[in-house]
Amino acid sequence: MAKPLIAGNWKMHGTAAEAVALARQLVKNEHSCAGVQLAIFPPTLHLGLVASELSGSAIALGAQNVSEHGPGAFTGEVSADMLKETGCDYTLVGHSERRTLFGEVDGAVADKFKAAQRSDLVPILCVGETLQQRQQGLTLDVIAKQINAVKDKVGIENLCRGVIAYEPVWAIGTGEVASPEEAQLVHIVIRELLGPGGIGTSLLYGGSVKASNAAELFAEPDIDGGLVGGASLEADEFLKIAQLMT
Ligand code: PGA
Repeated sequence: MAKPLIAGNWKMHGTAAEAVALARQLVKNEHSCAGVQLAIFPPTLHLGLVASELSGSAIALGAQNVSEHGPGAFTGEVSADMLKETGCDYTLVGHSERRTLFGEVDGAVADKFKAAQRSDLVPILCVGETLQQRQQGLTLDVIAKQINAVKDKVGIENLCRGVIAYEPVWAIGTGEVASPEEAQLVHIVIRELLGPGGIGTSLLYGGSVKASNAAELFAEPDIDGGLVGGASLEADEFLKIAQLMT
């Protein structure tokens, strides 16, 4: 079984100096969460700087997005090879902000997942339903559709080699959080979709995770870690969340 994973998505926050300071604080205190794999996802522009801070540390580095394309005329894009060369181990794919604000559709998300694995990055596939879909009772259908789009593209074995983060869209950045029972139910369904090869796949929960609500989420048997947004911008809070996973 892989170590539990606590991933910090910094989104588009912070100056270069702030990114370096936050990474430094985490490195200084990473010993307080031995047994947990920490990973941080700074803005793309700060990846190189943060990579230097992480050298010699067990904290992994990840990107928030990756191009589905190889090198070529794709203005403004960053390829999986470039991220790998900069020191990334992981990349998010299909974060709900990418899907809703930047029009990423299931097919493109699947291509990004494939591109990441081709360059030896571990993709963290983000899935989740909107409030409206939830109210219409469509949660499990939405999750299945988002996961199956990737499965159809890369095959079940490759899908199981990635990480899946269940992030209900209505819980992201809102302070609303799925109840542990609700999250566990969705995680069981994801586990079933993955089949026998998915027993060891890390399934993360994300959406307003904080030190005050993480313990009960992490106590659920199919929640193997967390994808943390806002609360990952404070080193103490992020480390406290990780400690609850040990
Ligand atoms: P949040 O973000 O923890 O601020 O809700 C989670 C995410 O978007 O990954």
